[in-house]
Amino acid sequence: MPAAEAPFLLACRREPVPHTPVWLMRQAGRFLPEYRAIRSRMSFLELCRNPDAAAEVTLQPVDILGVDAAILFADILLVLEPLGLGLSFSPGDGPSLAHPVRSPEQVKSLPRVDVADSLAYVFETVRRVRSGLAGRVPLIGFAGAPFTLASYAIEGGSSRNHERTKRFLLEHPAAWSDLMSRLVDVTADYLNAQVAAGAQAVQVFDSWVGHLAPADYSEAVLPHMRDLFARLDRSVPAIHFSTGTGGYLELVRDAGGDVVGVDWRVPLDDAWRRIGYDHAIQGNLDPVTLLGPREKVVERARQVLAAAGGRRGHVFNLGHGVLPETPVDNVRALVDAVHEWSVR
Ligand code: CP3
Repeated sequence: MPAAEAPFLLACRREPVPHTPVWLMRQAGRFLPEYRAIRSRMSFLELCRNPDAAAEVTLQPVDILGVDAAILFADILLVLEPLGLGLSFSPGDGPSLAHPVRSPEQVKSLPRVDVADSLAYVFETVRRVRSGLAGRVPLIGFAGAPFTLASYAIEGGSSRNHERTKRFLLEHPAAWSDLMSRLVDVTADYLNAQVAAGAQAVQVFDSWVGHLAPADYSEAVLPHMRDLFARLDRSVPAIHFSTGTGGYLELVRDAGGDVVGVDWRVPLDDAWRRIGYDHAIQGNLDPVTLLGPREKVVERARQVLAAAGGRRGHVFNLGHGVLPETPVDNVRALVDAVHEWSVR
């Protein structure tokens, strides 16, 4: 299929589609036995750095689930490694950074990153995925948003309340702004290089920004997001994803992106009305729904489709990533239900 006719890309551009496209965040991952088989032979970071294996894992959900887009297998935290923060993943505890950023001086001494060199393995994966896909569905590249990256850089790992990050931006506004600008620089380069290698859309993950009050979002995040989106290659659509931002979706929209991702805490029809129909929308089934009975999965999926009202520009997704304990058959049933119930 020529890329221009792929339902996913049509929906991102708010053009008419034969059916609502669906893909799922974390569709390549632990809920698939085929993923676990590959992971049993190498660590998560080894997998990310191995273009053949990473490409194979990227293609798995396309073959197994019938989704309308592939998402590159990588991680938002990979860029923190060339920044010298010492990234590792341990089973159970998640990501950990050996050298977190805790002072304005540390921000100043962060190196400038040449992504073409330090993240070359990611671009190689993109090229292999494109050839493996052979035009079946488009490939989405991605990166972490500066706030979410900064939160890992400052906290040193996952965090419940992001206290250190929020204190940093309040106590050291100039150093915060410097850190965010540096992260915008590397993220813009990184995403544009993914597009140059063959990514046909990009998603910016601001997974934890919803922890901020609207005033802090406006002051400490929004200008940097505008800067980032302004620097992205305009030849592909950009998806702006966040969670917990239902209280200030208008600010998230103003920060940039052609498609705005919304989580399940806000009804999709309300969200779209507030964002405006001049934007495409992505979402927003609660990932936990997929742990429930099949009939509920289908019923809730139909409710999301009904909330979208058949309007142009809906990309069906979860409100956040697929959980590892999700039954594969439920995910298949979801993808089939979305396709079946949205046929135009
Ligand atoms: O979506 C996909 O299928 C593509 C691959 C992808 C991964 N991570 C693979 C992964 C993507 C798009 C991400 C993004 C990512 N990584 C985000 C933003 C999305 C979100 O979930 O909010 C964040 C915050 C991270 C950071 C991260 N990576 C954490 C906190 C963890 C540990 C917790 C966990 O879920 O295990 C990871 C590890 C990770 N990234 C795994 C996968 C498949 C699990 C690794 C394993 O196999 O053990």
